[in-house]
Amino acid sequence: MFGKIKFYEKKSNDVSIEFENGRASVDIITPSIINFFSTLSTERRASKAVENLKRMPGKITVDFIDGQVLVYTEKLKVSITDNFMVDIFDLNGKRICSDYRGEDKPFVRRGNDDDGNIAAEEGHQLEEERKSQKIKILKQLNPGSYFYGLGDRTGHLNKLGYHYKMWNTDNPNPHVESFETMYKSIPFFVALEKKTAYGIFFDNSYETVFDFGKENSNYYSFSAVDGNLDYYFIYGPSAKEVIFGYTLLTGTTPLPQLWTLGYQQSRWSYAPEKRLQEIANNFRKKDIPCDVLYLDIDYMDGYRVFTWDQQKFPNHEKMLDRLKGQGYKIVTIIDPGVKKDKGYSIYDQGLKNNYFATDRDGIPYVNRVWPGKALYPDFSNQAVRHWWAENQKILVNHGVAGVWNDMNEPASFDGPLPDDVQFNNDGRLTDHREIHNVYGHYMSKATYEGIKTATNKRPFVITRASYAGTQKYATVWTGDNQSLWEHLRMSLPMLMNLGISGFAFCGTDVGGFGFDCTPELLSRWVQVGAFTALFRNHSSASMRDQEPWAFDEKTESINRKYIKLRYRLLPYFYDIMHDEETTGLPMIRPLLLDYQNDENVYGINDEFMSGSNILVAPVVEQGKTARMVYLPKGNRWI
Ligand code: NOJ
Repeated sequence: MFGKIKFYEKKSNDVSIEFENGRASVDIITPSIINFFSTLSTERRASKAVENLKRMPGKITVDFIDGQVLVYTEKLKVSITDNFMVDIFDLNGKRICSDYRGEDKPFVRRGNDDDGNIAAEEGHQLEEERKSQKIKILKQLNPGSYFYGLGDRTGHLNKLGYHYKMWNTDNPNPHVESFETMYKSIPFFVALEKKTAYGIFFDNSYETVFDFGKENSNYYSFSAVDGNLDYYFIYGPSAKEVIFGYTLLTGTTPLPQLWTLGYQQSRWSYAPEKRLQEIANNFRKKDIPCDVLYLDIDYMDGYRVFTWDQQKFPNHEKMLDRLKGQGYKIVTIIDPGVKKDKGYSIYDQGLKNNYFATDRDGIPYVNRVWPGKALYPDFSNQAVRHWWAENQKILVNHGVAGVWNDMNEPASFDGPLPDDVQFNNDGRLTDHREIHNVYGHYMSKATYEGIKTATNKRPFVITRASYAGTQKYATVWTGDNQSLWEHLRMSLPMLMNLGISGFAFCGTDVGGFGFDCTPELLSRWVQVGAFTALFRNHSSASMRDQEPWAFDEKTESINRKYIKLRYRLLPYFYDIMHDEETTGLPMIRPLLLDYQNDENVYGINDEFMSGSNILVAPVVEQGKTARMVYLPKGNRWI
């Protein structure tokens, strides 16, 4: 508890307030974006997401009336009272967001006794026990509220009534709506209430928890196990303005090269070379456009990153050259885990220069991933990022067009990395708890910067794990989905929420990664993929073939038709990505972004806008050939 306000002081853009038991600051970034901060863990702001912050605070006035510090910007009135209680109003006095004054009182889980949960006997699982939270902010929850964002969370578009944890997780089970964690941690959400939107970005890379009225319908909350109290309030009133504000803080996705918006074909794995060539020839022979082919882990020599298997790909440079001649770009996978193997140059260099994360005694920490025993480069160290960036040359200087960063939650086969694994954190030593959620972010940053320097072109990086702000460096996909109708259905809200969370360039594994696809499901998925930014078909090892021609002729011709439609629309999509550089607005968006005045669209899960001009209402149920479509008013729909 902060206690009573003792003193306040206005410095240029920020107001610092001294309470009985601590200090806090209210920092005006723009008239609509305000940062609330208090040092609880380290003296410094520790943002990994906000780089080169552009401040445009405008005119600020500060007053002290009736025990409240009142801060006025050109858009908002902020009142701070004892205990660092915050209330935010627009300039007409309308209340937009308030701290909750009542008791923090989660619902009781009946059936749990001292011996645990009785249903567990039969294998039923409950949510994990919560770790104790060091910081918890409760905000008043009013009827008629909607919540969106938080990255790639499963479930529905509207997150009201649910509870999520930010801790990057590689969980190979089929994704279901009860998952609390996913591969990404984007601690940002948009709230919509009575047609007014605002956002909150809780910039804390430790494990954080977001509860949208699940534990108690009177409040919603966000909390963290450690780190600082550091959150931004971003005022709309339109959700579009909130996204603009959020991407002003964390960055937008730079316009990608045109080819990255074309059709992409992947598989675990196209190997050896002959198989890859067969795929390449087939697309051309069958007149199905395709720009990108992927090489999954089997192109490497024993899963050693930055190497090639000489048996399977005896002359990769020549091969890459030939495929380039056929109009293909090749993207290769790179995982973070470096094989523990004396004599392997990447391992030797990393070891010699102390580039790996260590235990408390400074001994490199070892776990197991594809190459067997492996070490984890400490990407939170600038020197390691520089080394990793340089390593990209090994690929791109020989004709690889883009790099796919996988397993960077980071994944580990022998249990999770212990909390006390040590990371450099750009000179401010810390442990795994702070770096886990930004591990993939830093890896992507290094990859992006390496490719940019080596090629002087707009880099194409695709990553599975990310944090807020990773959109500046990489495109993302939603990880290991399955060839299930439910997963096709769920991909729409997942992608819409990723878009709201700043990830304008995202997609799913078209056709599904795990399980065997069916002809109908593949075509329905291709129809959706044709309108999402990343349009990549990918499937797991040992699953049946899933290329556009893998089934019968009818399926092939539907797939061809929609892939060709994608290419006809490419100039439109390219324009969207260009505009997005300034607006932050994603290509795939929920209807509420363009039709915020129509409350009927706030919860629509199965329609989306692809840019502002195309409404996509795909068929996502087996056997259906028609469906209801909700068309918001205000347009002449064609
Ligand atoms: C996990 C990734 O999510 C998947 O896309 C990839 O094929 C496998 N790792 C193998 O690299």
